[in-house]
Amino acid sequence: MGEKILVTGGTGYIGSHTVVELINEGFEVVIIDDLSNSSVDILDHIEKIVGTRPQFYQFDLCDQARLNDFFKKESDIKGIIHFAASKAVGESVIKPLLYYRNNITSLLNLMDCMQSHQINNLVFSSSCTVYGQPDELPVSERTPFKPAQSPYGNTKQICEEILRDVAQANQQYRLTALRYFNPVGAHPSGLIGELPTGTPNNLVPFITQTVAGLRDSLKVFGTDYDTPDGTAVRDYIHVVDLAKAHVITVNRLLNKKQNQGYEFFNLGTGNGYSVKQVIDAFEKSTGVSVKYTLADRRPGDIERIYANTKFANDVLGWKAELGLEEMMSSAWEWQKRTLS
Ligand code: UD1
Repeated sequence: MGEKILVTGGTGYIGSHTVVELINEGFEVVIIDDLSNSSVDILDHIEKIVGTRPQFYQFDLCDQARLNDFFKKESDIKGIIHFAASKAVGESVIKPLLYYRNNITSLLNLMDCMQSHQINNLVFSSSCTVYGQPDELPVSERTPFKPAQSPYGNTKQICEEILRDVAQANQQYRLTALRYFNPVGAHPSGLIGELPTGTPNNLVPFITQTVAGLRDSLKVFGTDYDTPDGTAVRDYIHVVDLAKAHVITVNRLLNKKQNQGYEFFNLGTGNGYSVKQVIDAFEKSTGVSVKYTLADRRPGDIERIYANTKFANDVLGWKAELGLEEMMSSAWEWQKRTLS
């Protein structure tokens, strides 16, 4: 068995895919998740895919005493991937304190435990939301941050600042923030994928639920953007590509290949696709048509964003391989599976 990695939020969407890739690469995985936005059944599904069941602890990372007990028991953890966080942009506007408490307290608690239990390696789940609506496209890691558009986005900016300052003060640390663009799609096994609770906020789950008959029709938010077809542009990335980038990053940290205490990378494909192009790709790859109506812009949405991926490609030696049609067809296979 390889080295032991703690994955917080490991039963969640990106977390579960990363657990699969870590186990495939020979790591031993232990998960902490409070199951606030995921299901314990995911552990069975992970086991079906990889033949090994990760260790699992259910509790909230805001519980510092419980977390400290965990690290006393699991004394051989070599690195942490920290996914666990609240992530609904709209909800964060309504419940800012919940977002600041959950997302910032959990990171502070983890970093306190890293210090007391001598763990030096951490990968942090960040987001392209830290850039706001940037002045330049594509967005590189050197593109300056704009003020966050939501409390959720602000927690990601603040957490990155915490990582930078802590790395500065502790030379033994190797900390990496991975800034995801728009993660979509599902594992090719059809056994894990995104499981939104209630009405989905994100585009692709809304498309698949509409086609599955769970929603009446998709609303395309905004048709008057300054983009080729008037709908907003994002850099969609397959969740399996994203998961693989985490394994590469963990290896890099454990092998002490990261020279700086703190580094950050954009994880996208580098391609910007509009909402209409996403719908077209879905229809083309699945052969099913999507019922949609045109609607006003969604408050808080930005017009266009896509990544410059050169730094991640060159330094991590990682490149997204899966295209938009594979993202759509895998999302649809997963949706069908959740219905049966
Ligand atoms: C945002 C954040 C991202 C965060 C994610 C979590 C930015 C740039 N991105 O993604 O970092 O991880 O929220 O929720 O801040 N759309 C529709 N109809 C729908 C749903 C969405 O037309 O029913 C459109 C949106 O207006 C947008 C695109 O689809 O143009 C993608 O939306 P969504 O999937 O919600 O992701 P972002 O808002 O880009």
